[in-house]
Amino acid sequence: MPKITIIGAGAVGATTAQRIAEKEIGDVVLTDIVEGLPQGKALDLLEAGPLFGYDSNIMGTNDYRDIKGSDVVVITAGIARKPGMTREDLLKINTKIITDVSQNIKLHAPDSVVITVTNPLDIMTYVVMKTTGFESNRVFGMSGVLDSGRFAAFIALELGCSVRDINAMVLGGHGDTMVPLPRFTTVSGVPITELMPESTINRLVDRTINGGAEIVNLLKTGSAFYAPSAAVTNMVEAVIKDTKRILPACAYLNGEYGKKDIYLGVPVKLGKKGITQIIELELTGEEKKALDRSADTVRSGISSLNASG
Ligand code: NAI
Ligand code: 2OP
Repeated sequence: MPKITIIGAGAVGATTAQRIAEKEIGDVVLTDIVEGLPQGKALDLLEAGPLFGYDSNIMGTNDYRDIKGSDVVVITAGIARKPGMTREDLLKINTKIITDVSQNIKLHAPDSVVITVTNPLDIMTYVVMKTTGFESNRVFGMSGVLDSGRFAAFIALELGCSVRDINAMVLGGHGDTMVPLPRFTTVSGVPITELMPESTINRLVDRTINGGAEIVNLLKTGSAFYAPSAAVTNMVEAVIKDTKRILPACAYLNGEYGKKDIYLGVPVKLGKKGITQIIELELTGEEKKALDRSADTVRSGISSLNASG
């Protein structure tokens, strides 16, 4: 069985472990800094195996030596923003965590494909790539699959149609400046621009952009994890099974879309080696401008990292 490590046994990490085991994509190693937490959750998931009929092995650990030989490592370790904490405070704390995690991945799972989930996503993915020194094709982040899943869910609700027929596309950074693309979002091949008035599309686009905040406001004590773990699982499956699916991912750009040395959400082809191709869509002037704005926001986050050393 392939080996998938999930670092961070919190809401997203543990639910991702559950989804991967239930789909028998591979064996799972769940790690966390808190003693007992990954062991307890892993054992609980293992005991569900006979009831749901999956043979994936799930082990919990606090020891990085157990991640040896991982095909894929998913990073969900970090903290969420707490009341009174600025974005910059969060950036500093999670950068420290992600740097430590990345050093351990470099040491113990040097051949793995790494998928980052921790926020602020685009900047953390950049930190992982720089710290591990891995080729950029095997370091990427999860954002667009989640954001386009949300967009698709809202379109299906609006049109009263099956989610199965919807193919949504969201580019850019994972935040307020993300760029949902109605022209490239289709229902059985028909762009939604031909199926809904502009005002409806704008409403669904806004809801998508605020999708994470909508859940936080409802939950009050945490952020989304069911859809995020489903999004990660889709990406892990594409890598492990070498499906070559085309999905939006937070990818390292080296000239694509006119941008260099930055991580940003774009459509990619995903397989065993990670990203095997970045797909460049023909964007209109307005779409380009929106992507530029998003890239500027990510770049200023990266610069603030460099400035604070
Ligand atoms: P959570 O708080 O439930 O879990 C985080 C886990 O990380 C905790 O169990 C904590 O003990 C662990 N941790 C902290 N420091 C660690 C370290 N140094 N080494 C190993 N483990 C460590 O948080 P949740 O809800 O699972 O979210 C995790 C991260 O994912 C957050 O940064 C969140 O903002 C982000 N996220 C990103 C999404 C995306 O679309 N990219 C979607 C959903 C969440
Ligand atoms: C989300 O979009 C918090 O990034 C997370 O739900």
